[in-house]
Amino acid sequence: MRIPLIAGNWKMNKTVTEARSFVEAVQGKLPAADVVETAIAAPALFLQTMLEANTEDVLRIGAEACYYEDDGAYTGETSPRALHEMGIPYTIVGHSERRRYFNETDDVINRKVQAVFRNGMTPIVCCDETMGRRESGEKIHWVVNQVTAALKGVSPEDAAKIVIAYEPSWAIGSGTSASTDQAEEGCYLIRQTLADIYSDDLANGVRILYGGSVKPDNIAGLMAKNNVDGVLAGGSSLDETSFIQLANYQNL
Ligand code: 13P
Repeated sequence: MRIPLIAGNWKMNKTVTEARSFVEAVQGKLPAADVVETAIAAPALFLQTMLEANTEDVLRIGAEACYYEDDGAYTGETSPRALHEMGIPYTIVGHSERRRYFNETDDVINRKVQAVFRNGMTPIVCCDETMGRRESGEKIHWVVNQVTAALKGVSPEDAAKIVIAYEPSWAIGSGTSASTDQAEEGCYLIRQTLADIYSDDLANGVRILYGGSVKPDNIAGLMAKNNVDGVLAGGSSLDETSFIQLANYQNL
């Protein structure tokens, strides 16, 4: 059974004080983690404070990014080994904003996926799709290639634990989500790619999320789709009330 995962990606928003207030405010208001898992990926400098404020320990505190080496002369980077030692279970890898603004290539993303697994964490790998590629019919090829490249050399044991997010960049931050059918189509395509690389069994166990303008008023329709196992929300994960609503989508 695939436990739904409702995850937030805060991007470069909030301060340490604001992060602490958010985590305090959601205590006691999130579903049990074996029913609906909830996570917030936050900037590395907030993580220790968030872990300390997370007294109920239902919310998973994740990182937004990390480097692909464990230690070394890489000024300004975040070590996956250090994240693991803090008790961080998830790290986002390959968000379209990292690909676009920080030149992360498929090769870099693959190394990061391996580094996250090597350090006992689970990557949430983001798979982008631009409107240009959608309109020119290149979409399928593009999504399949990103998933295949991210998983190069990853063992079936590790791949079975991965989370993949289908995040069309034309929907991110636009205020308008992909339609429920478009989200389902993207997530299904990712699942088929996993089945081709590994096996049907493995693909059927992996959680695939949709991301791009997910809000309390559209989450239920997205979550009703067979291949949408959760969401990765940006803007609507910043406000505690709306994150609590997303997490409790089954009661909306
Ligand atoms: P928005 O929900 O703000 O569109 O952001 C989505 C996203 O990029 C999550 O990673």
